[in-house]
Amino acid sequence: MARPGGRRSRARGATEDVIDSSPSRYIARVSTETGRELHDGIEPWELLVHAHRDNHPVEVAAQFLASRMIQLTGREALVRRGLRFVNGAAAQVADLAGAAVGSDALARAAKRLVGVTDRDYRFHFRETTHLSEAEVKRRTDQLQHDAAARLKARGPQPRLRVLLTGATGFLGKEILFQVATDRRVEEIVAVLRPETVRDPKTKEVVRVLSPAERGALLLQRLKLPKAAQKKYRFVAGDIEQPGLGIAAEEVARLRDALTHVVHCAASVSFDDTYENSFRANVLGSRNALAFALELQEAEGSPFVQHIAIETSYIHGRQKASFAAEESLAFPRHFYNNYYELTKAMASIETDRFMIERGLRVAQLLPSIVIGDSRTGNNRGDTKVVNAPINAFGRAQEALSRPGQTAGERVRGWAVAQVAQGFPGDPSAELNLVPVDRVVEGILAALTVPEAIGNRIHLATDNRIRSQDMLRICREELDVAVRLTDPTIYRNLTLPLVRATLEKLGEPKLANALEKLGTIFGGYSEWGQPIHKVGNDVRILGLALRRPNTEHAFRMLCRHNRYVQDFGKVRDADEIARRERLWDELCTELELETGHEVGAIEPAEFRALLREKLDVVEFVRRPARPPARRRKS
Ligand SMILES: NC(=O)c1ccc[n+]([C@@H]2O[C@H](COP(=O)([O-])OP(=O)(O)OC[C@H]3O[C@@H](n4cnc5c(N)ncnc54)[C@H](OP(=O)(O)O)[C@@H]3O)[C@@H](O)[C@H]2O)c1
Repeated sequence: MARPGGRRSRARGATEDVIDSSPSRYIARVSTETGRELHDGIEPWELLVHAHRDNHPVEVAAQFLASRMIQLTGREALVRRGLRFVNGAAAQVADLAGAAVGSDALARAAKRLVGVTDRDYRFHFRETTHLSEAEVKRRTDQLQHDAAARLKARGPQPRLRVLLTGATGFLGKEILFQVATDRRVEEIVAVLRPETVRDPKTKEVVRVLSPAERGALLLQRLKLPKAAQKKYRFVAGDIEQPGLGIAAEEVARLRDALTHVVHCAASVSFDDTYENSFRANVLGSRNALAFALELQEAEGSPFVQHIAIETSYIHGRQKASFAAEESLAFPRHFYNNYYELTKAMASIETDRFMIERGLRVAQLLPSIVIGDSRTGNNRGDTKVVNAPINAFGRAQEALSRPGQTAGERVRGWAVAQVAQGFPGDPSAELNLVPVDRVVEGILAALTVPEAIGNRIHLATDNRIRSQDMLRICREELDVAVRLTDPTIYRNLTLPLVRATLEKLGEPKLANALEKLGTIFGGYSEWGQPIHKVGNDVRILGLALRRPNTEHAFRMLCRHNRYVQDFGKVRDADEIARRERLWDELCTELELETGHEVGAIEPAEFRALLREKLDVVEFVRRPARPPARRRKS
């Protein structure tokens, strides 16, 4: 098996300093026999799911059978116990055979032959502290108490001044939007880096937008009321630089003013290298934490607390067990990608800053974030769940274009057959949470000192299964995607699909499907972790009724189909225009039907929408004159 990045891990920072990015700073390899740490170094790839499966045809077959058994019986825990029993029994037989002839080598060879997975080590996270639980609690209580006192001193109108990283991202834009009407917030200072704009075809640099220019464009697209616009200030910076790369004179200004730091910037890419993910997610978080600590320790500083945005997928692959909010254990079934792994490392850094250095910090952990709960609006985001949805929609559009010749039609049919299988187990549950709920949680935390020292999942309690997602895709996008068993897909279907599509002259589609399958397949296999929720309501005081995931996912599909044209509309100004109109139309439909727009039946929604909207130009149709009364 190819081992990506299989060398000692040293990430190169933007300053070209060599940074120690070794996983051993956070994770220990421990012998299962002696319980002692094995000091033989850890390579990042060893911590991913891919490194530990599909190594043997017997194991591949067992995984496939397990998935079938779970579908038949619905009893995942039982099937998992069965798998462990068979694995253990086969290991014992191999050991006995080895003992009979007095050869460990034979026992090992026998195990390899029958596909026994037999590791003599496990990984665990290093303790963040050696202090007793009682001492950690005493310190956390003190930090909460200090934050509460600082907030109280600001009076009933706290006039908060918040430094925000990641303002140009999906969550960041929603934060800017919601802050406009949040009377507690007096100023928001967003740290932005310049943006290099390239020609989409030639990839040549067209222009470089300064942070100030980017900020002005953001405000223009969010269409915020004039009065609110003076709340926003944009400063140049880069989270990968010490001090967030903010100029010294600006830092001096901020030191006397800031009450909060909200660190939201990250690399949210499921296929990025370990080094890149480490730099953005771990080093970036460390820089933000250190920046906040400097503010907190400055004399006369009004600083209240730091808010770290993480992800509930720091719990990795847990196979249908509950991922509790407070605890973080190395996942028994490893991590899906370096994004999850490095976000978990960042969370450990956050714990260390709090416990060892006394930073007042809360950790908020969204699950998979999708567009607005009512309208599906996502301000042009095309990543995470949007990527497969847009790919299905585009593949369907390409396939439904009438072929000129009989040969083209046959080819179209063949492409459709291979392109519309997606790896996933029908029973796999995904935890999707709309962006408006997540940002409500982030803003609530600004004035909740009790959030300090806690991990809070911003997730849902009404998860959605893969089979329901595909049903909604069929209803909303007219796409006939089939779920195929993930193990079979990885090992058999994908190589075949790739070869077939290349033969049919579709190398781009072959690449896209391979990428989607390998990146997202992991999230729709059987045995997904269940992220516990409760702290969002108990601590942050959010509404007990969490958004309806099925409606939100339906609106994501509708939004991506009509507003984004499955990701083909890339111009940010055009997206902003369309989303404003979409919002108005959703409100009108709700008033006319008396139902939440996500609850309107697909056929009725389409008919009502087409009455009001030219879906190609995305402009309103002229209102029909009221029907004339017939003379009797
Ligand atoms: N989206 C999800 O489904 C999801 C789920 C759970 C948790 N989260 C967490 O939520 C946070 C925001 O995610 P998102 O979806 O909004 O991400 P996003 O859309 O990819 O935005 C990432 C943001 O980080 C900024 N950034 C990255 N590297 C930077 C650097 N070196 N210096 C300055 N800014 C930098 C980007 O700025 P540029 O515009 O300059 O690139 C952008 O504003 C992340 O911490 C993520 O882990 C997201």
